[in-house]
Order: sequence, then structure tokens, then C-alpha cells
Amino acid sequence: MLKVENLSKIYEGGTQALDDVSFEVEPGEFLAIIGLSGSGKSTLLRCINRLIEPTSGTITWDGVDVTKASQEELRRIRRKIGMVFQHFNLVNRSQVLTNVLSGRLGYLNPALSRAGDEPPPDHHGTGGVESMLKVENLSKIYEGGTQALDDVSFEVEPGEFLAIIGLSGSGKSTLLRCINRLIEPTSGTITWDGVDITKASQEELRRIRRRIGMVFQHFNLVNRSQVLTNVLSGRLGYLNPALSLVNRFPKADIDKAHAQLARVGLEEKWDARADELSGGQKQRVGVARAMMQDPEIMLADEPVASLDPVLARSIMQYLERINQEDGAMVLCSLHFLDLVHEYADRVIALNDGKLVFEGLPSEIDDEKFNEIYGQEAERIG
Ligand SMILES: Nc1ncnc2c1ncn2[C@@H]1O[C@H](COP(=O)(O)OP(=O)(O)OP(=O)(O)O)[C@@H](O)[C@H]1O
Ligand SMILES: [Mg+2]
Repeated sequence: MLKVENLSKIYEGGTQALDDVSFEVEPGEFLAIIGLSGSGKSTLLRCINRLIEPTSGTITWDGVDVTKASQEELRRIRRKIGMVFQHFNLVNRSQVLTNVLSGRLGYLNPALSRAGDEPPPDHHGTGGVESMLKVENLSKIYEGGTQALDDVSFEVEPGEFLAIIGLSGSGKSTLLRCINRLIEPTSGTITWDGVDITKASQEELRRIRRRIGMVFQHFNLVNRSQVLTNVLSGRLGYLNPALSLVNRFPKADIDKAHAQLARVGLEEKWDARADELSGGQKQRVGVARAMMQDPEIMLADEPVASLDPVLARSIMQYLERINQEDGAMVLCSLHFLDLVHEYADRVIALNDGKLVFEGLPSEIDDEKFNEIYGQEAERIG
């Protein structure tokens, strides 16, 4: 039996993530742990294999108090405890097979040094007028031959909230990233405000990107930097590597960053390090950062995929406000159809890189659902 007794964790900085938690799990049991974002779920799991050192309490398993195990005992124990991470923890630059094989060594092997964030080009520019976004015959074939997008065409009106749905691997992220050229499309055109984005020069691209905010599925924060610094970097665009410049931001920008943090309910966290935040809090920082740009188009790539249902709604509400109050066009990929129904004006669906549906959320009946997600799919939300 796994026995957790009076477990507490207080992080440096004083956040009490676990407060006197006790429970037991029988062999063969499947235990669900639920709770709001920031309630301590990840901390609890990570205490069990000592990825995090608990502050007090005991965790007894197989005759050993895990919290007091020596490094040697810990190695032995960890060999018997697998772990699946919220953000995958894969070595991005290594082969899929290599990543799977590494499980043989345990997920903690230091030889598997983690890959960094993607290298970001810089940009700056000016604002401009609203106009329609027009995607025509867009295709993307990755090196290696995967066709992620296959002749996709659609339009988005100014002020529209478009949801993009489809199974994992259907091409949603690729599509969103083609729109700001984080990914180079193989063919097709993307026209906005009189410019074909796919053919834009570096200078035009910088100007365009200033006006396109982005919220990332995995937040893309600079973990070691302050929350406020992360938000301020939105002023330069989410792509600027020169975060060291933040000390030179004008007071107006700093005030604005505080205001954006207040807008997402994180005012008091401005001086925390980004990696001290829960997933939901990180995503709110991601939204605040994107809002610093006063974007005309907001691209959101599964912005709520790693959040609890309550926080998911709150992030969606921020996007809704950016759409309705600030008038930004929103393109948002989503996994949950109830959120699509609630927030989107219109939906496009991808299946294996092809556009298989375009219409109103209410038009997705069971038959359409099966076309989009496959015959075996069942609705869960
Ligand atoms: N950098 C890359 N190099 C090669 N193939 C890629 C790359 N990124 C994505 N792909 C492939 O392109 C296809 C579409 O992937 P994409 O990430 O766009 O899907 P998605 O709909 O966003 O999936 P998910 O819901 O899991 O985020 C997949 O088959 C994927 O394996
Ligand atoms: Mg994706």
C-alpha cells in the first residue's frame, strides 16, 4: 500500500502547495486526483517520487519512507514508479524511438538533457487597419514527408472568433503557426491587410507579427524570469529574444503590464518567477503577454488544453473579451466542443491536414462529428 501522511510542501517564497495531506492507495487501485489549477496536484505527484522534496510528512511504500530514502534507495524506488508528465518532457531534438527507449533508464536520467525553447526571431512595427484574413490552398509538407496541411482554404472576417478543431495530429498547430510564419508553408497564400504573408519580406513580416498575438499551448514563458518581465516582453512581441532589455521599458509599458496582469487576476504575482506558477497561472501570463501587443489577430493554440475546467473558462473569457471589447479576430484551436459552442462564431475542422468542415458550431451534429473525429470517436465533452 502507498501511504501518504500529513504531507506538506511550502515552496521557497512561501507558497503552501500542500497542507497536511493524508490518504492511502491500495495496490491495483486507479486513483484520480482532481482540483483547480494551482491546488497542488502536480506538487503531490512529484513528492511521491521526490522530484520535489516535501517540507514535512511521510510517504510510505514497500516498507520505505520515500521522504527519508537515501539516494541509493531512491534510485531503486524510482525504477518502479513510472511517470507521465503534463508537458510530455520529451527530448525534442531526439527521435521518438530514443525517447521511448530512455524509459528503460528511467525518466530522470540526467544524460537526457532537456531541449530548450524554440529559437525566436525578433520583430517590431506599427499598427494598422482591420481586414479579412484569407487562407488559400495552403499546404505544408514537413521535411521527412509528413503532409500536415493539404490544400486548406478559408476566410476569417474582422471581429470573428474562429475555432479550429480536429484530432491530435490533424494540423491545427501547423495551420496557426503558418499564419504568423513561425512555420513556412510549402505552398498557398495567406492574405491579410493587402499583404501575402507567405511572401512577406523580413521587414514586412516584423510589421505583421507585431499585430498578431499568440497564446501557446505550453505557455512559452521564460521560466527563470519574473512574471512582469514575461508580460513586458509582449511589448516587443512574443518572439523577441532580447528580454534583457526589459529594464529599459518606459513606465507606461510597465504600468500597462501591471494592468494586463490585473486583467487576468494575477496582479499579486508580478514578481514571482514564471516557473513558480501553476499551469493555469502560466497561461494567464501568456494571455497578458499577448494583450501587451494590442493584437488585431489573436492566435491561440489549444490555450486551455492543460487547464482545469474552471480556469479553461476563465482563459476563454479573456479571449472572448479581446474579441468583443478590443475587436481582435481570434483563431483558437480547441479540443472541447462545449467550449466551441460557447465561444466560437464559426468553426473549421481539420482531418489529416484537410479541411473537412466549415460552419457554425450548431451545425456539428453526430454525423459531422464522426466525419471530423472518426467513426469510433465518442463525445466526452
Ligand atoms: N516540426 C515537425 N516536423 C515534422 N512533422 C511535424 C512537425 N510538427 C508537426 N508535424 C506533423 O504534422 C502533423 C500535424 O501536426 P500538428 O502539430 O499541426 O497537429 P495538431 O492538430 O496541432 O495536433 P495536437 O492536437 O496533438 O496538438 C502530424 O502528423 C505531426 O506529426
Ligand atoms: Mg497542436
